[in-house]
Amino acid sequence: MTVEKKAILQKFPRSPDVLLSLLHALQRTNPQNYLTQEDLKLAAEYLGLPLSRVRDAVSFYTMFSLKPRGRHIIRVCESPNCHLAGAWSVVEELKKTLGIEVGQTTPDGLFTLELTSCLGACGVAPVMMVDDEVFGNLTPERVREILRGIRGAG
Ligand code: FES
Repeated sequence: MTVEKKAILQKFPRSPDVLLSLLHALQRTNPQNYLTQEDLKLAAEYLGLPLSRVRDAVSFYTMFSLKPRGRHIIRVCESPNCHLAGAWSVVEELKKTLGIEVGQTTPDGLFTLELTSCLGACGVAPVMMVDDEVFGNLTPERVREILRGIRGAG
């Protein structure tokens, strides 16, 4: 176990209630935004849970990945409000600008494009989330602007 992972575990109480938060924290330590088998074992052992329960949680929630992803995860909401407000034109713009399909990562390892269900920001549909930040009222132009901003910030 790395020193960094040990430090993360110690921030959490040994309670099954913190499983999702702990998995998030472990996933964030990896620059490629995914959980390794070792991470799942660490979480299970630390919280005293069966490994199968940790695996079930990881496969149930789409925000977790067992495969390496980009440094930034773009998740476009495909639930009804966003769908009706034009989410598909947002997805098309992202696919065109990034040169990838949904579920893929750009060759430079910077972005992974995913779909998600409602992000709770239906009032500003269509919506996408980049890492932990929510962007609403999206248009293709606004999508290009956001990507430029992220690329510029390194
Ligand atoms: S339907 Fe897209 S944020 Fe709720």
